[in-house]
Amino acid sequence: MTAIAPSPTLAETLRSRRERLAERINFPVMLWSGRPRARNFPANTYPFRANSHFLYFAGMSLTNAVIRLDGKRLTLFMDDSTVEDALWHGPMPTCVEVANIIGAEAALPMSELPKAAQNVATIPVQDGITVAEQMTLRTTVQPAQDKALAEAIVAVRLTHDAEAITEIRKAAAVSTWAHRAGMAATAVGQTEAAVRAVMESVIVATGMTCAYNSIVTIQGEVLHNERYDHVLQPGDLVLADVGAEAASGWASDITRTWPVTGQFSSTQRDIYEVVLAAHDACIAAARPGVEYRELHFLACRTLATGLAELGILKGDPDGLVEQDAHALFFPHGVGHLLGLDVHDMEDLGDLAGYASGRSRSDRFGLAFLRLDRPLQAGMAVTIEPGFYQVPGILQDAVRREAYSDCVDWDRLAQFQDVRGVRIEDDIFITAEGCEILTGELSSDVDTIETAVKSQKVM
Ligand code: GLY
Ligand code: MN
Ligand code: MN
Repeated sequence: MTAIAPSPTLAETLRSRRERLAERINFPVMLWSGRPRARNFPANTYPFRANSHFLYFAGMSLTNAVIRLDGKRLTLFMDDSTVEDALWHGPMPTCVEVANIIGAEAALPMSELPKAAQNVATIPVQDGITVAEQMTLRTTVQPAQDKALAEAIVAVRLTHDAEAITEIRKAAAVSTWAHRAGMAATAVGQTEAAVRAVMESVIVATGMTCAYNSIVTIQGEVLHNERYDHVLQPGDLVLADVGAEAASGWASDITRTWPVTGQFSSTQRDIYEVVLAAHDACIAAARPGVEYRELHFLACRTLATGLAELGILKGDPDGLVEQDAHALFFPHGVGHLLGLDVHDMEDLGDLAGYASGRSRSDRFGLAFLRLDRPLQAGMAVTIEPGFYQVPGILQDAVRREAYSDCVDWDRLAQFQDVRGVRIEDDIFITAEGCEILTGELSSDVDTIETAVKSQKVM
């Protein structure tokens, strides 16, 4: 069992979360935390992370525990650690002690689970053994009820309460320090791995973990690059997408792109400024009622305008975006929901990301848009436009033909030293606009150059 230090207001927060859920459903719910997954044999596991829906309502990262929500009533199911557990993992709070911390009305051993699991709705967890247990114990599964539960949980988790946003802020602050440390540690001859190590050490030293696999790469065009073996050379850009997850499970997600030497080339600076203009325009426009999809298109138009001004794209920006010409260089969406999951609630597919009645487009420029809802006060989302030269897209004969009138390929060839640029911040939607949760970390060209050149954390 893994336990984290709970906040003093945890029980109250959890009660209010249960109330918000109870307003939307009229059937009992059981949520499983899940078990550690074996890495290569059962005693050697991947780091455990409790299921996010469980974590939202239970507030503590408990292994192999279950909660039952019945209206506002909370029951915790968990076995106390055995002498053998304590031998390997140390003493842990008992079920009754945990129940007191989280404000559960009842604390029961797992042997009581089968009786309590009839006619409950649930959401499958991340590990196969626990999913099998969920299926075996729930002999009377009603898919419509499970769907109604998922929809109700999405409605509750879409906007964040004070406890959640406090935790996201903590994670964001640590991510900010990790990026500063990464810039200061960057030098010609270092490996990507060395920069990654410095960044992650800031996160680990605060007792946090990484919210997702870090991307620290000179191959910024590989969107989810997980190689770290390249040696940094003069002229390379480092793209670092690294975010901390607080011990409570709340995530942050930051990307910065910086030159290895501390000096952008003129072509790198030109493209960086175009991406930054898209980033800034989206943040300036983010407020309640605005469709996130419109922010995405705002980013696309701003990128198209900037690339046309640089002579890379040809034509008027609106027309270029209509044809998805911008997607040659910006093939992903402008961001996503952020919460307990870095792509919040993406375990539910597009149920959280897409408003009821909407579904993903298969259009080149929209297929990877993860969020298509009007913004609401209390939501946290990322804003992360980018520019990438992906060989699989730009060398594709069919696309080159389709976009032959839109791209000046000779002009593009002059920007060969810009493989990938992304600038990503986390924003919190307020009543009037938004607050940049990661705004302490500048994205301004001169500040970034100074941070890399100074070789000290600024
Ligand atoms: N770090 C993953 C993402 O930005 O979506
Ligand atoms: Mn992101
Ligand atoms: Mn990211």
